[in-house]
Amino acid sequence: MKRVFLIGYMGSGKTTIGKLVAEKLGYGFVDMDAHIEEKYFNTISNIFAELGEEQFRLMEQRCLHEVSEFEDVIISTGGGAPCFFDNMEYMKSQGLTIYLKLTAAELTERLEASQANKRPLIAGRSGEELKKFIADGLAKREAFYLQAAYALSGGIDETVNEICALISRQ
Ligand code: S3P
Repeated sequence: MKRVFLIGYMGSGKTTIGKLVAEKLGYGFVDMDAHIEEKYFNTISNIFAELGEEQFRLMEQRCLHEVSEFEDVIISTGGGAPCFFDNMEYMKSQGLTIYLKLTAAELTERLEASQANKRPLIAGRSGEELKKFIADGLAKREAFYLQAAYALSGGIDETVNEICALISRQ
């Protein structure tokens, strides 16, 4: 039985890469944000707006525990998930943790181009403000992200192949 948690900052490619790995290995794929939205019949943006981040983090933790029951699965986690409660420790106890490590500059470039309305934490930020928000946030979060069993920094194809190789070695 294998279970893999992809972790990393918003825009690091967890969902894209997770889907590709799952497809290649014939595993299931779960995106935690999508799981939260289905479970609570609400979008992430609305949950933040209506209930606040604190409540979102509780919902996220509950969903993390739920998806950690799944087997032969690649789980793409929300960017903040490893940084609250004992979530990082919990994921390490439940499967293989892999950090998709990009620089703040790379993330800024990707997030500038992404649909910010899907990501309440960066909605309304752009240019220098976005760059600073990401650099500061990443600096704080890396203490958690770097606890993952592996950190990978390559391009998409290379990372997908590396993850498949790591899983087959488990
Ligand atoms: C968050 C990341 C988002 C989502 C929420 C909060 C964060 O997920 O869970 O908007 O705190 O970094 P992605 O990393 O999939 O964008």
